[in-house]
Amino acid sequence: MPVLIPGPASSSLTQRLAELSGFMKAKINYKVFPDGESYIRIEEPLKGETAIVIQSCPPPQDKRVMELLQLIDASLRAGASKVIAVVPYLAYSRQDKVFLDYEALSSKIIANAIEAIGAHAFITVNVHSEIVLSYFKIKALSVDAFPEIASYLSSLDFKNPLILSPDRKRYPEAQRVAKILNGEAAFLEKKRDLTTGDIVTEERTLNVEDRDVIIVDDIISTGGTIVNAAKIVSKGKPKRIIAACIHGLYAANALEKLMAAGVNEVLSTDTIETKTSKISVAKVLLESIKQLMEG
Ligand code: R5P
Repeated sequence: MPVLIPGPASSSLTQRLAELSGFMKAKINYKVFPDGESYIRIEEPLKGETAIVIQSCPPPQDKRVMELLQLIDASLRAGASKVIAVVPYLAYSRQDKVFLDYEALSSKIIANAIEAIGAHAFITVNVHSEIVLSYFKIKALSVDAFPEIASYLSSLDFKNPLILSPDRKRYPEAQRVAKILNGEAAFLEKKRDLTTGDIVTEERTLNVEDRDVIIVDDIISTGGTIVNAAKIVSKGKPKRIIAACIHGLYAANALEKLMAAGVNEVLSTDTIETKTSKISVAKVLLESIKQLMEG
């Protein structure tokens, strides 16, 4: 029987996975020393079992990544025969390639480290870019949680909603959500300055008067992308604006900025556990974990 190893950043998600799967949850001794270093010990032997380490890596990313590596290492030392590293939010995945000369290829560093410590397989949720998966030599999968978002939204009973991608790149996801909600999909054109990080979104007239608009994206970080989209949408006098994302990072008072830009509600999954995490990825993760163990 596999054993779930709960990481400090994913305790609620691990509990949901334990309830859904019936897998045991190992006891972990986790503490932080006065100088800030993390200590992790698994308090029971794993005796040849498959350890499923669940640890997301939102801010403080570097600490979360270190804890993830400690959890993999400790699982192997406790006797696990295999470790599946489940990292619901994979930090650094936006640095998926070298954009400017001599930049560090951060996502590859993370992939190499997970592998070097001894993970046998890796699962994440809606990785920002599939290129990151190619940096792993072990089996690496990205699970799609947009259907979970769509199914949650469909329970809210919208009439003819517009599902808007704030960026051309996420238009396929917006189309998939729109199909499930019987709505219409559209996208905006966004450009980001690679040096300053400033975001510019092209103005576009959208037919949103008295309609619900759901802006979908994979990540909300500073909120700048959704703020721009919400400002454009607001000009068309919509009924409500909802922002839904997979990974709610909310850096730099993003939630306050979103509300100020006219967003009425923000929804996210529990890849990052926050007050907006109304949608769980436990079910899709479990399906993927089971496939991996059977395959
Ligand atoms: C970018 O390609 C991503 O899909 C998100 O749109 C972006 O990471 C969001 O960042 P922020 O909230 O800082 O605009």
